[in-house]
Amino acid sequence: MARTALVTGGSRGIGAAISQALQAQGCTVAATYAGNDEAAAKFTEETGIKTYKWNVGSYEESAAGIAKVEEELGPIDIVVANAGITRDAPFHKMTPEQWQQVIDTNLTGVFNTVHPIWPGMRERKFGRVIVISSINGQKGQFAQVNYAATKAGDLGIVKSLAQEGARAGITANAVCPGYIATEMVMAVPEKVRESIIGQIPAGRLGEPEEIARCVAFLASDDSGFINGSTISANGAQFFV
Ligand code: CAA
Repeated sequence: MARTALVTGGSRGIGAAISQALQAQGCTVAATYAGNDEAAAKFTEETGIKTYKWNVGSYEESAAGIAKVEEELGPIDIVVANAGITRDAPFHKMTPEQWQQVIDTNLTGVFNTVHPIWPGMRERKFGRVIVISSINGQKGQFAQVNYAATKAGDLGIVKSLAQEGARAGITANAVCPGYIATEMVMAVPEKVRESIIGQIPAGRLGEPEEIARCVAFLASDDSGFINGSTISANGAQFFV
């Protein structure tokens, strides 16, 4: 069955790979982005996937944007809360602004993205909610008190939503990527990145497509009994 999917932060990095994997699976996909108009336009031109601009940290913008997507593409069956940012700093240097920006985007952003879509999923008795968490939500990370808090919070969100949605045909699951070759990881100082790669038994960074395949699996119609789970894809760097 053709499904409609929304992917936040869906025009770059892991999100872009997810948007394309869902499209390849037959979904009509809407990808959101926060600021980079040029990258979004290029993505649409190359893939035919429509892009929509809003700040996931704002409930009003999210609700209005989601209403527009549903008007243009139809009811959303699959939502992938992927948009995320880092504002890394050792805790003694972390500012309240760095804390709040990450909370607003990575944690409140998940609420703002799923909440307006949830009632329609309940009515239609079908939904797939997938939240992109992180290995660093599982194990913590030096200089990421803010980020790790949000990514651990994502796991609490999906476990709770899974229990609420199960009888309405809605599943909620998380994917925890390890270190993936994206702009976010490339922004880490080279020396630190090299030392991180040394801690990955696979001996390399992951590829965005390796995360996208996990999401496509969880998003499919026949994954309905997988609910409240976490798929870790980290090259054996960390086991829960
Ligand atoms: N473990 C232990 N010590 C560490 C460390 C680590 N992982 N990283 C840095 N340090 C140490 C440094 O060696 C340094 O020690 P000394 O003072 O003894 O030399 C100290 O901590 C850092 O001090 P600075 O004052 O230089 O720190 P800074 O204010 O310049 O901040 C930093 C630097 C932000 C911590 C930088 O090193 C950094 O970005 N680290 C990477 C953090 C990280 O891994 N982020 C993950 C991003 S990818 C992601 O988030 C995607 C995902 O989901 C996996």
